[in-house]
Amino acid sequence: MKDGRFLTLAIESSCDETAAAVVADGRVVLSNVISSQIAIHEAYGGVVPEIASRHHLENVNPVVARALGDAGVTLSDVDLIGVTNGPGLIGALVIGVATAKALALASGKPLVGVNHMYGHVSSNFIQYPELEPPFVCLVVSGGHTDIIEMTDYTSCRVIGSTRDDAAGEAYDKVARVIGLGYPGGPKIDACAKLGDPENVRFKRVWLDKDGFDFSFSGIKTGVLNYVNSERQAGRSVCVEDVAAGFQEAVVEVLVEKAVHAVKSLGRDRLVMAGGVSANSRLREAMAERCRKEGIELFLPDKALCTDNAAMIASAAYYRYRKYGPDDLTLDAFANMPY
Ligand code: KG4
Ligand code: ZN
Repeated sequence: MKDGRFLTLAIESSCDETAAAVVADGRVVLSNVISSQIAIHEAYGGVVPEIASRHHLENVNPVVARALGDAGVTLSDVDLIGVTNGPGLIGALVIGVATAKALALASGKPLVGVNHMYGHVSSNFIQYPELEPPFVCLVVSGGHTDIIEMTDYTSCRVIGSTRDDAAGEAYDKVARVIGLGYPGGPKIDACAKLGDPENVRFKRVWLDKDGFDFSFSGIKTGVLNYVNSERQAGRSVCVEDVAAGFQEAVVEVLVEKAVHAVKSLGRDRLVMAGGVSANSRLREAMAERCRKEGIELFLPDKALCTDNAAMIASAAYYRYRKYGPDDLTLDAFANMPY
């Protein structure tokens, strides 16, 4: 507690970012430190789990120390220690969980394990101090593409999900196919700005048009087939147009299904979360469509969309208020349902 505020220190290490943050009263960011491993994994064209774990181990203590320092607090001021304990790369998760447990044991502070996906949703509680559940949320990340209805701060109902690849996974795979490399999402985002989506049109996969499930595994093959057939015919491939065409196909499906879900449920608000919601075309298209439909759109700043520990602190705060602390047997899980 400092200045009458409840302080949560959180750690996030589920993939390739080692992050720690201090958040007051579940909503106000006092510090948000991220040590990214992008430059390290870039050479391999994707995240190498073993290398990620080693770097988490090296970085986690300095990152936690900086988060406390930036917030101007010490561990004794902290009221709660939160940590992502799934889903994610198991070797990466255990570094964060072991660190959080050690800090909790040494300081006597309560410990709470957080589902990374509730963390993503909670980035909106930081961005919008007045936002409260229930609401419909489109969660689009590297491992998830779901439409959920948050029924309160700590639980949800899944309305629809991808049946195969997540949207972020499709971005990453297609980036590899067209030679843009890792990290695929931001690279396609930038490249697509220089292309024309009308020049290369890829099939939109609706599955059941009235349903809320997604499928993004086919589009990688679609892009691959297009690139191969153009090259075989002796034509040069405009990577910018392919990036733009691919992105438009993904964005159109995400926008239509999310808006359809909000309307079908009789709601008037849509929340977005996860790394792909940092995508500039998705943000623009969703904002435009929501404006037309009279839907209020909640969209965190780009830095809060991708992995960070402030969102984990917010989710930990609400989980602790509802369920109390976890004990020191807290484990990490590669797969963890909502
Ligand atoms: O939420 P996140 O940081 O980590 C997971 O929980 O998965 O999401 C990472 C995913 C990656 O697939 C990445 O390519 C994608 O989000 N991503 C983007 C953008 N920034 C990150 N996709 C499209 N456009 C972006 N600007
Ligand atoms: Zn994430």
